[in-house]
Amino acid sequence: MTILQDKDYLAENMMGPNSVVIMEELLSDISLPIDGNILDLGCGRGLTSIALAQRTKAQIYALDLWIDADENRKRFKKLHLDGKITCVNADILDKPFIPKFFETIISIDSYHYFGNKENILDEYIAPLVKKDGLILMAFPGLKKDIHDNIPETLLDYWSKEDFECFHEIEWWKNLFLKSENTTLLNIQQMNCFDMAWNDWLASDNPFAVEDKKAMQCGGRDIMNLISVILKKK
Ligand SMILES: C[S@@+](CC[C@H](N)C(=O)[O-])C[C@H]1O[C@@H](n2cnc3c(N)ncnc32)[C@H](O)[C@@H]1O
Repeated sequence: MTILQDKDYLAENMMGPNSVVIMEELLSDISLPIDGNILDLGCGRGLTSIALAQRTKAQIYALDLWIDADENRKRFKKLHLDGKITCVNADILDKPFIPKFFETIISIDSYHYFGNKENILDEYIAPLVKKDGLILMAFPGLKKDIHDNIPETLLDYWSKEDFECFHEIEWWKNLFLKSENTTLLNIQQMNCFDMAWNDWLASDNPFAVEDKKAMQCGGRDIMNLISVILKKK
């Protein structure tokens, strides 16, 4: 059993629906670069960074805003992965890397927090990737637009501001199609919703406990997971 199959380890380090399961589906048809640099954007406690380090010889940059780099560094050192993963604590909107530093960017359950505005992809994300490099994302979304009619029961758990991060595929598609520096190769609803959410909701993380109530109050009927594949021009 690898560490990422250990349910206790996952429960300790998940920050939302199981990111390892989500990344597995996102990468199912993708060949990762075997060397160079890969950015795990919004890596949280680094579960996906660990999975990436196990999958490729490329150097992984595990960047996160809320989680301290030292905390992640200690976690990776325990797994003898500290040489393969570089930890960075930064806001991606502060432009912490030089342009074209990465072959690929991967971002699980994070892009919707900061990427839901028109300029973000072209100004902050695409410049970091080499020509023809991929930007791969997966994040929670909506099955259809409900912003004018958010069920009251859900507003007990998620605020109107939280809902500003959630949108349906068509909304994201329109946003990404405005990008001048990337080509949208694919955007779709993912299959792993139940598996990824069930792992998260089974944990006793206080955020999972609240999310569980929201899911039981209709969240499951309106939410989905969206995967996106963009190519740098
Ligand atoms: C729900 S957590 C998901 C963490 C991890 N990807 C996972 O799936 O377990 C969202 C993450 O996005 C990161 N994030 C949000 N805004 C960010 C920003 N502007 N720059 C970098 N990371 C950001 C947060 O620090 C947080 O760890």
